[in-house]
Amino acid sequence: MSRLCATFRVQRYSIPIRLISCAPLTVKDHHFFLGQLLNQFRAADPEQPYTKWMQEWPDAPLIRYRETGWAAEGLLINSAAAYRDVMHSHSCYAYQRSAPFRRLIGDIIGVGLVFAEGSEHCAQRKALGGLFTVANIKSYLPLLREKANRLVDEMSKADDGLVEMKQLYAKITLDVVGIFVLGEDLDNFECRTEFQTCYESMFDLSTAGMLLAAVNLAVPIRWIPLQANREFMDASKRLRQILTDMTEERIAAVEAKMGKQSSPTPIDLLTYMVETKYLAKIPGDRWTKQELIEQVLNFMATGHETTAGALTFATHQLGLCPDVVAKLRQEATSLPGSPSFSDIESLPYLDAVMKECLRLNPPVAGIPRVAQTDTVVAGHFIPRGTTLMPVPAVIHRNPALWGHDVEQFRPQRWIDDPVTGGAVHKEMYAWVAFGHGPRACIGRALAALNFKVVVLALVRNFELDSLDRGKLPVVNPSGQLRPKGEVWLRVTKVGEKV
Ligand code: HEM
Repeated sequence: MSRLCATFRVQRYSIPIRLISCAPLTVKDHHFFLGQLLNQFRAADPEQPYTKWMQEWPDAPLIRYRETGWAAEGLLINSAAAYRDVMHSHSCYAYQRSAPFRRLIGDIIGVGLVFAEGSEHCAQRKALGGLFTVANIKSYLPLLREKANRLVDEMSKADDGLVEMKQLYAKITLDVVGIFVLGEDLDNFECRTEFQTCYESMFDLSTAGMLLAAVNLAVPIRWIPLQANREFMDASKRLRQILTDMTEERIAAVEAKMGKQSSPTPIDLLTYMVETKYLAKIPGDRWTKQELIEQVLNFMATGHETTAGALTFATHQLGLCPDVVAKLRQEATSLPGSPSFSDIESLPYLDAVMKECLRLNPPVAGIPRVAQTDTVVAGHFIPRGTTLMPVPAVIHRNPALWGHDVEQFRPQRWIDDPVTGGAVHKEMYAWVAFGHGPRACIGRALAALNFKVVVLALVRNFELDSLDRGKLPVVNPSGQLRPKGEVWLRVTKVGEKV
């Protein structure tokens, strides 16, 4: 086997894992060349092929499938232990983001922190860490509250109580992320900004756009002069231009007031990076203007779409569960009119609802990794070059981890066991909505606070009733779980604001 390994290593192909004695279970329904690409494109959602395999083999730590190309194979991470082995701080840098994943979202989200690897990633996380301290996140609470109240005002305006939530959440989360990343209130509620238009062109794709996105996963085709490609690339270029202009203005503004005025509180990402990295005293520590722009792109995209998706699915779920809304409202009755950070953090049922919503509908569909060295996952030898696919929904919906009621929305499981939600894996790797280890979501605290402030505002002000009584249809292919089309809610006023 070692000669075989050497051959494949030289050619930079994945070694066929079937040739390894302890080969994991294998999915067989692939196309001989396109692998699982067609099945992925035909699936109802980006997670579906993977969750189907998990349901077939809930106890297998890894499931082998064919990727596009003659020899390419991937392994679905199907157990909490396997997930830990890949994400853990000791092993995480042995895996890197895959090239198809870069192609799927690189044009949208830039090449900042999300695509940094190894020691470069460590350095960037360290440099940005100062922005994500509890103190800085806490200082955003008044702004989050203001935006949640703005949302309540918009929802109250609907004469017949009917509100389309996807648009409203796109606006509020873009506003919040705009303040956090750019230090500017984009106020998407007042007028539609170019940001929203650009992001919609890149995320809400036509059928042709989705087909191109799927093919682009396998082969780079963004250069082909087709209408759908042109629309996508124009939006991407426009977004970069707006952010370039804003970055240049900020650099000039920070340089102009250097030594004259202290930094604003709360400090935004762009100002923070200009002060600490662009103008760093030690030349080796400096980031260029382009590096700043890529980070800004990264944070604008990762921050708003994920939170908007999480809130849309959560509101739809709450609109189906009046008993859960009543319990949330009951828990909130003890709070003052404008609850503090610790008031909000002290609400166990709100926390339970957030975790349970993210368990059933984790916004990130999956970020594939490629093993950079020969390694071992859940006791299986993994050759260098193998793609490993962590899909949060696969871990979150596995009955072998969560028991027979895995598909039920039951926040109570997090009250009964606040740390693991009762999952059999006791190390918390059964709940992976924000990832784990050195690459876990850096914006988790901001996202969680935003989620809680909005849900609190909703339940204190409205009874919620989802018009769509089933599972929401979602966009596919996509790197994120995004509702497809409009998501309508009927609201009835009950009380005061947050
Ligand atoms: C409900 C909302 C959110 C969810 C569910 C979420 C989830 C995730 C997940 C699963 C990852 C990938 C971890 C991995 O590679 O395994 C991630 C990474 C990341 N998230 Fe979030 N996220 C959310 C909100 C945010 C917000 C608000 C921001 C910023 C303002 C943000 C910024 C990032 C960045 C920059 C990364 C890359 C981190 C790295 O590679 O070091 N996210 N997020």
